[in-house]
Amino acid sequence: SQLPHKPVEDETLLYNQEFLEFLSGLPKERVIEKFESYQYQGFWYNPPLLHGIFNMQKHFQPCENDIFLVTAPKSGTTWLKALIYALMNREAHPPQSPHHPLLNKTPHQLVPFLEFINPSEYGSVCNSPDRTTRILATHCPLVSLPKSITDDHSPSSCKIVYLCRDVKDNFVSLFHFAQKNQWHISLEESFELYCKGFSGAGPVWDQISGYWKESLDRPHKVLFMRYEEMQNEPQFQLKRLAHFLGKPISEEDEKSGVVDQIINLCSFDTQSRLKVNNTGDLVCGLSNSSFFRKGVVGDWKNCLTIDMASKLDQITEEKFHAFGLSI
Ligand code: A3P
Repeated sequence: SQLPHKPVEDETLLYNQEFLEFLSGLPKERVIEKFESYQYQGFWYNPPLLHGIFNMQKHFQPCENDIFLVTAPKSGTTWLKALIYALMNREAHPPQSPHHPLLNKTPHQLVPFLEFINPSEYGSVCNSPDRTTRILATHCPLVSLPKSITDDHSPSSCKIVYLCRDVKDNFVSLFHFAQKNQWHISLEESFELYCKGFSGAGPVWDQISGYWKESLDRPHKVLFMRYEEMQNEPQFQLKRLAHFLGKPISEEDEKSGVVDQIINLCSFDTQSRLKVNNTGDLVCGLSNSSFFRKGVVGDWKNCLTIDMASKLDQITEEKFHAFGLSI
C-alpha cells in the first residue's frame, strides 16, 4: 500500500497553483478508490509526500553540518531518529536523565520529517547543541535530494544516514500501519501495490540501491545501515554511527555506560510505553502510536504466504544482484 494519508475531497484546496501544475504534468495512477499516486524522477508518491519533496527541492538550504536520516517508510525511522538525537545531544541531555526530551516528546517532534514541515520552518529546526547541525529526516530517494545536500562541492559537508530493512518485514509493517490508520485494504491488494512500487517513495528496492551505491562511492557522505544489524549488534552499530557523525564514543563515554544508556532509552520497550508515543497524531491523521507495533525482525513469517515471501525475495534478488547487495 501507499503511505496512508487522510483522504481529502478536493486536493486543489490544499496546494498552490504551482504545485498543482507540476502534478498535472506527471504520470499518475489511481491506486485505490480516491487515492492517486504520482510518479516523479522514477518514484511513486501520494500528493502530501510529493508536495514536501517539491518544496524541499525548491527551498531547502542545508547548514554546514546537517544530518539527514533517510529511510523508506516503515524501516525503523522512528528508532533511528531517537538514536541520533540521543547520541548528538548526549552532553546536554544525558541519556539516563529522568528529564530527557525523549521521555516527553516523540522522536518525530524532536527530529522532523522535511516533507511534513513548511519551508518557512526549515530554519527554525534546532535539535543539536551546535547551530550548524540540524537533524532532519526524509523518505526522499537519492536522485531527488536537493543538489545542495548531495554535491561534494556544496559549501555544506552534511551527512546522510540511510537505514534499510528486509523488504518482507518492511511490507508487513507498512500493511499494519495502513490498517491502523484506517486504510481498509486487503493483504493481497496491498502486496500487489507494494511490488509495483506504490509504497511511499517506492519502489523500495530502487531507493535502497541508490543509497547503497552512494555509500560505496562516497563513504564519507553516506552511511548505510540495516534494521536487522541494529537489532543484532546495537552497541557496535551505535558506535559506528557515532564515528560517522563525528561524535565518536570516547573511552570516557565507554566507562560511563553511555552506549547502553542510549540503547535503552531508544529501545522499543522504553519508547513504546511512553504516554507521549501513545497519544495524539503526527501529521495527516497518522497516529503516534501507529509507529510502534512489534519492533522485531522476521515478523513476516506470521503474515506472508510462502508465495508472497518468495516473490519479494525474487524481486530483491533481481534488483540487487548487479550491485552485490543482499538484505
Ligand atoms: P513493525 O511494524 O515491524 O513493528 P518507521 O519508524 O520507519 O515508521 O518504522 C516503524 C517500524 O519500526 C515498526 O515496525 C515499529 O514497531 C518499529 N519500531 C519503532 N520504534 C522502534 C524501536 N525503538 N526499536 C525497534 N523498532 C522500532
